[in-house]
Amino acid sequence: MLNEKMEKALNEQINRELYSSYLYLSMGAYSSSIGLSGFTHWFKVQVKEETIHGMKIFDYINRQGGRVRLKEIKEPPVEFGTPIEMFRKTLQHEQFITRSINDLVDLARSEKDETTASFLQWYVEEQVEEEENDKEIIDKLKIAGENKEALSALDAELAKRLPPKDEEESI
Ligand code: FEO
Repeated sequence: MLNEKMEKALNEQINRELYSSYLYLSMGAYSSSIGLSGFTHWFKVQVKEETIHGMKIFDYINRQGGRVRLKEIKEPPVEFGTPIEMFRKTLQHEQFITRSINDLVDLARSEKDETTASFLQWYVEEQVEEEENDKEIIDKLKIAGENKEALSALDAELAKRLPPKDEEESI
């Protein structure tokens, strides 16, 4: 069972995950507006990932007999600058999410809620992957520099991103 404090903190995390989804949807729209359809595809896959992250917590709260309380999702920015600036913002956002997951783990431990601390381990590992993905793309964008052909090749590569593996079982 979840205590009130833990339930509130998990509900706040649902909001952060759904905001992440909204933020990446906006980045996808922006990518399309600057002619990078592969980037748009990459962000659309990321939108699904983030929805799954939110839904896993939604399911967990319900399974623990808690109450999901959805809050307003704030409006994301519309403009994101150059592709590398956009991915730096993506990485910064993921680092913020990593910190929020770590805070949740700390809270679960201080509340002696082993079940939730164990549930959150999936997120701890997922965040390593999330940050790694962004860093890899930033590195490729650094190498591409001002070279339009290299940017176009990266756009084609990002167009091949596969949908999340656990999409069906989580939603
Ligand atoms: Fe759900 Fe990208 O962290």
